[in-house]
Amino acid sequence: MIKTIDWTGDGVRMIDQTKLPAVEEYPVFRTFEEVAEAIRTMVVRGAPAIGVAAALGMALGMKRSEAGDTAQAAADFRRIADTMAGTRPTAVNLFWAVERMTRRFERLLEDGADLDAIREGLVAEALAIRDEDIESNRRMGRLGQELLPSSGTVLTHCNAGALATAGYGTALGVIRAAVEHGKRLRVLADETRPFLQGARLTAWELWKDDIDVRVIADNMAGAFMRQGRVDAVIVGADRIAANGDVANKIGTYTIAVVAARHEIPFYVAAPTSTLDLSLATGAEIPIEERDPSEVTRFAGVRVVPESVTAFNPAFDVTPNDYVTAIITERGVARPPYGPSLAALAG
Ligand code: MRU
Repeated sequence: MIKTIDWTGDGVRMIDQTKLPAVEEYPVFRTFEEVAEAIRTMVVRGAPAIGVAAALGMALGMKRSEAGDTAQAAADFRRIADTMAGTRPTAVNLFWAVERMTRRFERLLEDGADLDAIREGLVAEALAIRDEDIESNRRMGRLGQELLPSSGTVLTHCNAGALATAGYGTALGVIRAAVEHGKRLRVLADETRPFLQGARLTAWELWKDDIDVRVIADNMAGAFMRQGRVDAVIVGADRIAANGDVANKIGTYTIAVVAARHEIPFYVAAPTSTLDLSLATGAEIPIEERDPSEVTRFAGVRVVPESVTAFNPAFDVTPNDYVTAIITERGVARPPYGPSLAALAG
């Protein structure tokens, strides 16, 4: 399995996703600021992976903190947590991980732990978040694979695979599990402009696993569906509101609408750490706006006239009525999502 994120004992090792597929490189990030910058610049990306990276970055920050007492340690912890929370706004897994690390830190303080015990406790919590992520992806895979046909073509958007998580993947985890069960599936990967997560990352990791994958440009998906060449769609999510509205990579909404038009099932696979039941609808989900240069340039080359700029919203929201089912590690939610997601969130 691809090692997306690892703890080295004094740093966080991550595969550099900005360089794939041309170069497979695993740099080590040695300060929490470096980890935060890696999240911002999408060296590591994908909602669950961002959460794991933030948690390990926080543990790293406290390991390197020179605080001499717990009051100073608490101030350092706050600064590190705020830095992590300020990296990317849409994926709720980031804030979920920061909160979980904060709860652990507060419990350690309440228990009177010394600074060494605090540092060890935070590393243990971050590693638990990582291990639980892999485990929940495998469970999601087992539950979700039953929804996919025994043979056919599954379309996916962006990268919701091993690279977007601590391992195995959410949407791609479901596809992996289906293939492991003997289903004969072909994957259509949308290239996913502007960052090309589909063309660069989904294609790379499925190819590595010997799973049949072809890339299409984003604007081809509708025609493929109309021609009957797509049997199911499965995507990941960055945040799911209480009513089942789903924020995911920009372009997901378009695919969901066309899938509904052609009565193709549209599945979302996401761990319960992606649920944000504090938000009534997707309209409240903050959408990250990234640098226009990601759109005006292609592979570093400017493709838009110098005097013209671009919009670059990184995510969109798919209304719940386009979503056939939401697959989580605790079970499969069906409409109406208000009660079914609340039951899974427990
Ligand atoms: O901007 P990115 O690459 O972080 O966006 C990733 C996505 O939109 C994924 O589909 C989502 O995070 C789910 S990953 C399991």
